[in-house]
Amino acid sequence: MSERKLSLNLFIYPGGHHEAAWRYKGSAAERILDVTFYQELAQQAEAHKFDAIFFADGPALADNVRYAQRFRFEPITWLAAIAVATKRIGLIATASTTYTEPYNLARLFASLDHLSGGRAGWNIVTTSTTQAAQNFGLPEHPPHHERYERAREYLDVITRLWDSWEDDALINDPISGVFAETSKIHSIDHVGKHFRVRGPLNISRTPQGRPVYVQAGSSDDGRAFAARFAEAIFTAHLTLASAQEFYADIKRQARAFDRSPDQVKILPGISPFIASTQTEADRLQDEFNELIQPEYSLTQLRQMIGLDLSGFDLDGPFPRHLIDTDGARGVASRFKLVVDIVDREKPTIRQLVQRLAGARGHWVIAGPPEKIADNIQTWFENGAADGFNVMPPWLPGGFDVFAEQVVPILRKRGLFRHDYTGTTLRDHYGLSRPASVYSSNIQAIA
Ligand SMILES: Cc1cc2nc3c(=O)[nH]c(=O)nc-3n(C[C@H](O)[C@H](O)[C@H](O)COP(=O)(O)O)c2cc1C
Repeated sequence: MSERKLSLNLFIYPGGHHEAAWRYKGSAAERILDVTFYQELAQQAEAHKFDAIFFADGPALADNVRYAQRFRFEPITWLAAIAVATKRIGLIATASTTYTEPYNLARLFASLDHLSGGRAGWNIVTTSTTQAAQNFGLPEHPPHHERYERAREYLDVITRLWDSWEDDALINDPISGVFAETSKIHSIDHVGKHFRVRGPLNISRTPQGRPVYVQAGSSDDGRAFAARFAEAIFTAHLTLASAQEFYADIKRQARAFDRSPDQVKILPGISPFIASTQTEADRLQDEFNELIQPEYSLTQLRQMIGLDLSGFDLDGPFPRHLIDTDGARGVASRFKLVVDIVDREKPTIRQLVQRLAGARGHWVIAGPPEKIADNIQTWFENGAADGFNVMPPWLPGGFDVFAEQVVPILRKRGLFRHDYTGTTLRDHYGLSRPASVYSSNIQAIA
């Protein structure tokens, strides 16, 4: 039995990942602002020995909030409230390199890692929500390439801030009266195109040294960034083949950056509709699709492919000729994913929006627990995944059924842990703890 084990995260999305989940009789729509709801979900994930819970984010209100539970707390604040109600589960928050400043974000994640005893992870995004620009005094969302250029400098700065206190700089000795060994606290004196930051950070180095670096890009820029910096990579794939291509490419690029491939975990999203028979599972998925509201789905589609299809016959063929493949889009890779579905499956507009309603282009699968476990095992054992971001179609029920019926099968097959062997998120993912770049013999990261 190989030692390699699956990593499993619970990706919490208000209401659930199916766009109509909040209207489903089994969902807890009324608890959307109730912190205990999320504390209970995190405790459930911890009880089933999941690696982490994860919150997505975008610093702007989605324009289709009329029809769906599409607002959320700020993720780091949210996770701090969950940290006090849990002990082992990793806590991954999304934050933007385009719409935040490194010093502020360094303090927020350092605080979360200290307060949680080393369980913080940062999903590094350049932000796909184009409307965010107007909330930060920008006329429009910066171009894709420019966002990644800023992100690379951002990572250099914030990494040195988290390293600016060496691990043994904190003395805290009332007897000698020495609180900190200042020779081991370093200014970073960064002057770059996007940032000027003196440092040091105003808190000591955290239990993990740095939060776990997570990333979710799939474009060329996104992949290169992930291969250089990310320790865990979230991604969206609908077929084994496209997941295998992504996996092989990222691991190859990581090696080219002199990184060990097993220090880069790849976790595709999976959104399972589970029932005891295939027929029941398909019926359950249909039940959700019957609840979708075209006004919402068409706005979602417009955001992904830039085409407004309101006024078109939903049961007519998808107007493929109208797609402008050259137009720059907020989410380059999601654009490609949708066009691939259209070309491969020739859907009507209704069939396409139902296809995307499940989890915004992530892998949606319906069936009995064994089938879900089989598919997870196939991707895990055939170079397509090191684990999964579990995206329950609805909450809490969609997660309960996965945790209670699929996880035990994965355990019996020796694919998932029976218990935690460590306390930090790095322990759970099997990631090493980075030394401070300022420790005497370490080269700067640049
Ligand atoms: C699982 C997953 C979660 C994501 N979460 C967010 C998010 O919370 N906020 C965001 O702006 N983008 C999010 N994205 C989008 C990515 O950050 C990225 O913009 C997108 O995958 C496009 O890749 P690219 O940046 O390489 O073009 C997510 C993507 C995936 C696959």
